Amino acid sequence: MAAPVFGVVLSGLAGATWWAVRRRRHLAASLTGLAGAAVAATAASYYYSTGPGKRAVWSEILDDLDLRGDERVLDVGCGRGAVLMLAAHRLPRGRAAGADIWNRHDQSGNSHAATERNAIAEGVADRVSLADADARDLPFPDGSFDVVVSNLVIHNISDDEGRRQALREAVRVLRPGGRLRIVDPPGTHHDQIVAEFGCTDVTARSLDWRTAYGIPTHRMTLVTATKPE
Ligand SMILES: C[S@@+](CC[C@H](N)C(=O)[O-])C[C@H]1O[C@@H](n2cnc3c(N)ncnc32)[C@H](O)[C@@H]1O
Repeated sequence: MAAPVFGVVLSGLAGATWWAVRRRRHLAASLTGLAGAAVAATAASYYYSTGPGKRAVWSEILDDLDLRGDERVLDVGCGRGAVLMLAAHRLPRGRAAGADIWNRHDQSGNSHAATERNAIAEGVADRVSLADADARDLPFPDGSFDVVVSNLVIHNISDDEGRRQALREAVRVLRPGGRLRIVDPPGTHHDQIVAEFGCTDVTARSLDWRTAYGIPTHRMTLVTATKPE
């Protein structure tokens, strides 16, 4: 979705700059050139955050969990599986489950089949399973997972009660002592809600520039919590 928009805007600005330069309209050329540079920087930041930036940030979050390699990890709203695959690589004797409704407005090319293909391509299909499931109604028994992760999913649920229900489900499927890691935009207050659900060691912190998604001052928030024993 974003690529055609960036492409059209950049081509328009490049054309306008070229036109202004040819006609010696120096001020107009400077303004359109600057606008083009700003749009190009926004596009670069956006694509960095959706690809290498996301993988780098989540590699650190997963490394901080100090996994043994035999855990069961659930990625709620796994999409095409960027975070799910990072988890699966750390689970040679464990399981990585992904649940999603595969909404194509939220992620381009999103589908169960695409994620399955990515697991095969990454050589982790033997330990990955996928469920067609809504975050508000996860098809897993209580206490099924050692770790539940989620990246940029819960904020997509439009109503407060739906977001609360998704967090309730994430906590329900964690085993006692299990750990939760959720990244979402700031202002979503997932930390307060999981604390209400009885989680301990609850923290919320702003991540760094790698999660700017094209907006210089924008940073995603990481919420961490543990389900009580
Ligand atoms: C921005 S994408 C992020 C995908 C993935 N977590 C990642 O970081 O690459 C948001 C994902 O949330 C999923 N999603 C949105 N609402 C959902 C819901 N109610 N239940 C499950 N998945 C949902 C979408 O289908 C999409 O895959």
